[in-house]
Amino acid sequence: MEIRPGIHWVGVRDPDLEVFDVIIPTEYGTTYNSYLVEAEEPALIDGVKEEFQEEWFAKLEARIDLAKLKHLIVNHTEPDHSGSIKELLRRAPHLVVHGSRAALQFLSEQVNMEFQGRLVGENDILDLGSRKLRFIMAPFLHWPDTIWTYLEGEGVLFTCDGFGSHFCFPEGKILASQQEVDFTPAVEYYFDKIMGPFKSKVREALAKLDGLQLEMIATGHGPILDVDLERFIRLYQEWSFEEQAAGRKKVVIAYASAYGHTKRMAELIAEGARSNPQVDVLLMDAASASPEEVSEAVSSFDAIIVGSPTINADAVYPIWRVLESISAITAKGKAAAVFGNYGWSGEAVALLEERLEKMRLVVGHPPVKVRFGLTAEDEKRCRAMGETVAASIT
Ligand code: FEO
Repeated sequence: MEIRPGIHWVGVRDPDLEVFDVIIPTEYGTTYNSYLVEAEEPALIDGVKEEFQEEWFAKLEARIDLAKLKHLIVNHTEPDHSGSIKELLRRAPHLVVHGSRAALQFLSEQVNMEFQGRLVGENDILDLGSRKLRFIMAPFLHWPDTIWTYLEGEGVLFTCDGFGSHFCFPEGKILASQQEVDFTPAVEYYFDKIMGPFKSKVREALAKLDGLQLEMIATGHGPILDVDLERFIRLYQEWSFEEQAAGRKKVVIAYASAYGHTKRMAELIAEGARSNPQVDVLLMDAASASPEEVSEAVSSFDAIIVGSPTINADAVYPIWRVLESISAITAKGKAAAVFGNYGWSGEAVALLEERLEKMRLVVGHPPVKVRFGLTAEDEKRCRAMGETVAASIT
């Protein structure tokens, strides 16, 4: 499909996809978008998932003799976009692959074969003859390899996962302006799941769009944005905004409690942390919090303190769910502490501590464990934990 003169969508639809990346339910399926930019030296932008490669090659080979294809841009090398590249390299022997350092490295380990790679940097230009592509570095959107590619003078930005959505548009209706239902919720869901852990990186990339003439955002998934560009950019700005009053620090205290003792400990720890005037405390009962509340709570913090009773020699599921929701990439190096009440042997605390350390958070305060009822001394230890953790980040 020609989406602009001389720019063809050669992607594929995957309406039946139910779960993406093992953990992300995709109610509306998805698409893997790939683009062919015609010029004296045509360029292909991104590939598709391997299982769809024959459909992709059929579309490509109907438009171009792959033996003559010179340029492939890899904006991102997650296999839903790069899975078809190994076979492409076989069919297009003169291909030069353009990407970031990480992308070229990742790709070489995916295809395990020799290819001509060209490293691109910020604002580098690839001259196709009558058209020019400019590269914009967008690392961690959502992999370290990510770049965006801008078609100079024509206002088309190819963003791969950026601004994308797992939303399988109807056959032949590829543009945002052709959709009969509002797919904005799918864009927001995609942002939350894929870009959410990298909000500061999203803000850095968005800043690079300032002053850029934009008429179309050609994403790697879902409808191509040909209308409402300003609205989608504004939404990305809103979703990536992080409220952090100047100089203030945030402590998240998440707990689960069987008989109220771990809850009492959490409240005392919160009291201790709140005594620090520079600290805001979010106290969360993980057992009653919704998945969205848990994700939002751990999306940004300066310190996290988690507490669980021990049941069957383990911490309880709601607390493991909190740890699972933390991005080990963005939380690396942040302060953490652990507490818990128990009746027999109290394994939960050590297990939580071990997991946090493996995620490379800094568990700098000794755990507080209390067996059965809290004494005045236990209460003091809990308050002191809150005070000490708060002091360590202020
Ligand atoms: Fe659509 Fe990060 O791959």
